[in-house]
Amino acid sequence: MAVNVFTYTSGLVLLALLVVSVTCRPTLEDTHQGVGISSPEKANVAQARSDSVQPKVPDRPVFILGDVEIPLHRNAIRNKSMHWKDGIVPFVVDNDYPDTARATILAGLHEIEADVESQGTKCIQFIPRTTEQNYLRIKRGTGCHSPIGFDPGEDGAVVSTLGPGCEIKGIVMHEILHVLGFYHEQNRPDRDLYVDINETNVAVIRDFYIRNETIIDTMGTPYDFESIMHYGAYDAGKVHRYPVITPKPKYGKTLRLGQRLGLSDIDVMKIQMLYHCPIDTSHIQRGLGDRLIDYCDFAFGMCNFSLGNATTGSGPTWVVQNESTPDGPVGGISNGLDPFLFASKEWDELSSLTTEDVSPQGIRNSTTTDSAATTIAPSAISKTPVTVTIYSPLLTSGDDGRACIQFALFQYGPSSYLDVFVSGPLLQRQRLRTFGDVSRMEFWVRYEIKLDMGTKAEFQLEFVAYLLEGTVSLDDYYVVKGNCIYAD
Ligand SMILES: *[C@@H]1O[C@H](CO)[C@@H](O)[C@H](O)[C@H]1NC(C)=O
Ligand SMILES: *[C@@H]1O[C@H](CO)[C@@H](O)[C@H](O)[C@H]1NC(C)=O
Ligand SMILES: *[C@@H]1O[C@H](CO)[C@@H](O)[C@H](O)[C@H]1NC(C)=O
Ligand SMILES: *[C@@H]1O[C@H](CO)[C@@H](O)[C@H](O)[C@H]1NC(C)=O
Ligand SMILES: *[C@@H]1O[C@H](CO)[C@@H](O)[C@H](O)[C@H]1NC(C)=O
Ligand SMILES: *[C@@H]1O[C@H](CO)[C@@H](O)[C@H](O)[C@H]1NC(C)=O
Ligand SMILES: *[C@@H]1O[C@H](CO)[C@@H](O)[C@H](O)[C@H]1NC(C)=O
Ligand SMILES: [Zn+2]
Repeated sequence: MAVNVFTYTSGLVLLALLVVSVTCRPTLEDTHQGVGISSPEKANVAQARSDSVQPKVPDRPVFILGDVEIPLHRNAIRNKSMHWKDGIVPFVVDNDYPDTARATILAGLHEIEADVESQGTKCIQFIPRTTEQNYLRIKRGTGCHSPIGFDPGEDGAVVSTLGPGCEIKGIVMHEILHVLGFYHEQNRPDRDLYVDINETNVAVIRDFYIRNETIIDTMGTPYDFESIMHYGAYDAGKVHRYPVITPKPKYGKTLRLGQRLGLSDIDVMKIQMLYHCPIDTSHIQRGLGDRLIDYCDFAFGMCNFSLGNATTGSGPTWVVQNESTPDGPVGGISNGLDPFLFASKEWDELSSLTTEDVSPQGIRNSTTTDSAATTIAPSAISKTPVTVTIYSPLLTSGDDGRACIQFALFQYGPSSYLDVFVSGPLLQRQRLRTFGDVSRMEFWVRYEIKLDMGTKAEFQLEFVAYLLEGTVSLDDYYVVKGNCIYAD
């Protein structure tokens, strides 16, 4: 008996679009949210959601904290009058939020409070405002932006704007860290030791200013690539197929830049130092925690994926690609340099030939085959589509039968597309979604697919690329129990 599957998908169309507000208050920073990729089309800007978030690998700290010596000076904004007194933040959330958005905002505040609790004592306290003169107001405006630190207006309110698309827990937490006094990690004075910035590709150079040490205190903490305050590799770029920030090569291709799942250990330490609390990172909520069912960032291969029969042996197949491809991507979504999973008919045909076999014009040397010289320039690739398939292992949903599949997709070319199927011991094979009608998508987009089988069940996923002239790339694949990471 087949279990009934109800699915739908949400395209997280990403865009970390800069909400550029003109202001001359030096501490007001236009913050965008995202770790992700922006659409190059102007038309998309209006609906831009800054919610594309870079997931974090649970329990994979970049730094071993025991090795870090923490001096007793503070991080973040130095000016003490811009810290919240005693870590107490009276707040109001405007009335015009839908209930789900309000619940997400409160969950974000609560998670910060819980994460930074220090030895059983609250370090930061968000309390509903009663009569306090100064307070945090969370406002449903446009975009996601906040001042740095305690910076009230004439009415006494410190206003954090969380417009539609910003009501995602990780984005809420990012904005509230600005309000508590923190800049983006890549604004640190020492940032050029750790990352490269492609200034040609920066949309608004102000977002990448290094802040003078007289303003920002690096706190003696190590540069935190995985901070909730770090941008993703492709955020805030002009041309969205090129990364803006990449780690220095010596830090490796497997590093991640930024995430919006939760506070890092170093994020928590910084808050505790700024607000004079003993360091205690023993109870931070870890990203996806035990919700994770399956994960692959393709940094070290295909994880537990297996290739379909038709795609083994010679001929086009999915490959882990660790360098630029002719039409993009130039790098994976995790940090702009990292490997990703790639399928292309042309690329495979070209790369399977040795240099002796192919002239600079792409002409195969006739001595290597019986037939006459064969042109394999992309324009002359044979018109027969090929299908390449990759299978997940057999996975198990949460007890309620729900799961969410998330991955980043980069499709290039007019006639290649991707189908995602699900099947299982008690599940008829069925298509969950086709990614087909994008003619030339030249940037990474994150998608989520909800799966609801009604009851706990096993399932297997199948990613099928149909290749004619274009290419299909995948990266940062997650399957989690329950709700989707960003859409819910
Ligand atoms: C610190 O912030 C207060 C309040 O905004 C401001 O009046 C003061 O000039 C600032 N001090 C410095 C050194 O920037
Ligand atoms: C920087 O970005 C531009 C696009 O804005 C691109 O043409 C250039 O190749 C990039 N440079 C590097 C080193 O990636
Ligand atoms: C930081 O500001 C101080 C004082 O204005 C100045 O002397 C110093 O050169 C600045 N440092 C940098 C790195 O810009
Ligand atoms: C993936 O493979 C690893 C090592 O072979 C194994 O420990 C893990 O349980 C597998 N995960 C799944 C979801 O099958
Ligand atoms: C691959 O081929 C083998 C032998 O022909 C068959 O038993 C197996 O079911 C096939 N697997 C897939 C995923 O099609
Ligand atoms: C990445 O590519 C280089 C050559 O371009 C190769 O030497 C290296 O082994 C590859 N690394 C991985 C992890 O595949
Ligand atoms: C084709 O093969 C011949 C003989 O092996 C060689 O001399 C010639 O350079 C090759 N041509 C190309 C285009 O590689
Ligand atoms: Zn920000």
